[in-house]
Formats: sequence, C-alpha cells, structure tokens
Amino acid sequence: MTADSTAAASQPQEGNVSRSASAGRETNPGKDGQADGAPASDILLSLHGISKHFGPVIALDGVDLDVPSGRITALIGDNGAGKSTLIKVIAGIHEPDRGEIYWNGKRVDIRTPHHATELGVATVYQDLALCDNLDIVANMFLGLEQRRHGLLDETPMELKAKETLASLSVTSVRSIRQPVGSLSGGQRQSVAVARAVMGDAKLVIMDEPTAALGVSQTAMVLELIQRLAASGIAVIVISHNLIDVFSVADRMAILYLGRLVSAGPASDYDRQSAVEIMTTGGLSERENGAHGAEAAV
Ligand SMILES: Nc1ncnc2c1ncn2[C@@H]1O[C@H](COP(=O)(O)OP(=O)(O)OP(=O)(O)O)[C@@H](O)[C@H]1O
Ligand SMILES: [Mg+2]
Repeated sequence: MTADSTAAASQPQEGNVSRSASAGRETNPGKDGQADGAPASDILLSLHGISKHFGPVIALDGVDLDVPSGRITALIGDNGAGKSTLIKVIAGIHEPDRGEIYWNGKRVDIRTPHHATELGVATVYQDLALCDNLDIVANMFLGLEQRRHGLLDETPMELKAKETLASLSVTSVRSIRQPVGSLSGGQRQSVAVARAVMGDAKLVIMDEPTAALGVSQTAMVLELIQRLAASGIAVIVISHNLIDVFSVADRMAILYLGRLVSAGPASDYDRQSAVEIMTTGGLSERENGAHGAEAAV
C-alpha cells in the first residue's frame, strides 16, 4: 500500500481525478514502458485482444491487459462489465472467441481449469468451495489427498498444511484439525487462499475476497493479499469495495461494458475517478476522444 493510494482512498483529490479519468492511459510510463517501473520481464500474464460473446451479449471486447508478478492488480467495473468472464477466461473455464494469451512471454491456449492450474493459476471464488464438516487439512487436500498403502497419509499433509499457513503468516487458526465450519469468515478465506497457493501458484485470482467480512477480518485478508504479492505472486483482485481496492492495489484495470477502458498504476486514480470511469467508461472526459483507451498495463 502506498501513502498516495491510502490518501486517495480516504480523500478524493481533484488533481488526481482529471489526470486519471482522462482516458485511462498510462500517465507516467517508466523507462521500460511499464508505468510503475515494473520491468517488462515481470509481466507474467499478457492478454491481447480477448473477446468473448454469449449469444448476442458481448461480454468481453478486445481486452488487452498485462499482469505483473509481485503486484496486486485490481479488476473493477460495474455489474455485468465482464470481470467474472475475464477471470474465467484466465482460469480456463471460458474459451475466448478471439485474442491471445501469453504466459511468461509464451503463447498459451488455456482450454481447461486443469491446464490453468498446471500453469500456476489459482482462483479463489467468492463461495470458496470449502466443506464445513471437514477440517482444515482435509479441505486443503480435498481431491489431492496423499495416500500410503491405500490409507490417507495424514502426517505429511498436516505438515504441508501447517507450513503453507505459516508461510502466509496465518496464525489465528488454533488447530489445523478444526472443522472449517467453525472458522471465522476471514479464517475461511485464509484456508481457501492457502489451498490455492499450496500448489505452485504464480497467479492468484480472488473474486470479491472481502465481500462477506467484517472490519477486522477484512484487514486480515487484505494483509494476506499483500503478503502473497510480496512473495512474488501476481495477484488479481476483483472487488466492488473501492476502499479495500485502494488500500492494496498496485495497479488498476477498469472494465466498462466488456472493454478495458482504463489501466495503470493505482496512484493515478482515486475513488471518485475510478467510479466515474466505471460508470461512464471515461467517455465524459472531453479530452478522451478515443472512445475509451484500450490501455495495456
Ligand atoms: N454464461 C453466460 N451466459 C450468457 N451470458 C453471460 C454468461 N456469463 C456472463 N454473461 C453476460 O456477460 C456479461 C458480463 O458478465 P460478468 O459476469 O462477466 O460481469 P461481472 O463484471 O462479473 O459482473 P458482476 O459485478 O455483477 O459480477 C453480462 O452481460 C452477463 O449477463
Ligand atoms: Mg462477477
């Protein structure tokens, strides 16, 4: 979190508004072309011209987006803007109609969720898909159980579960043998994230991770998101809560009616400008004559 983004979140600043709403172009490109100084070699995922329609509905229209490792990219937009569709394309659930996906600079077709997992994409969906009646270890290893002579091999699974939670600095869980149903919302979210990163996740996508959480649990999950990025993982967060978004995001990507109308360093935006772009596509700005820039991050 930068001091700038915190200030912007709590106190919209006029100067910032006109700068960022003016088309969502990169306003401060670094010498390597990446606006916040991230070297191009840090780009883990690159989407080029991704389009997807469902019957007559154009859910995604030529989306270009770069997602760097070690950074938190907030994907925001109004209801129906295409956020979930975009992450489902990355997670191998939807095949795009058009466009190209590059992973570490290499062209890939992500056709199945399994392929996405193999690449290192871990998605934490809003409903978390945890089993309340099973304990933390069982949830983390659901479908990935380790066996020995046909029996569950609990010791290595417990060790790995402990290690993973510790690596995420999740310390509030009393016992890894506690049923998930007895955990708080923030702890459940932590278990879901731990499950996601237990494999070799390079990109973690979180859909509305704080939607159902209270203040302190939200803070805990936001910290966890920052720790993931600090460990070098690329993170994409979808959230309607712009206070949360601005408290963690390094980069912003704003979808409007299926188009990526604005993208850039979070410090170029504040809540007011972000809302304006989310609701108008940024087209109300007179200097934006380009029908909303297809901004590559
Ligand atoms: N499986 C589907 N079949 C038909 N239309 C779909 C399908 N999935 C999404 N859409 C349509 O695509 C558009 C984008 O939907 P999407 O779910 O990606 O939006 P979103 O940005 O995630 O919205 P929200 O903030 O409400 O979750 C919407 O108009 C939606 O109705
Ligand atoms: Mg959605």
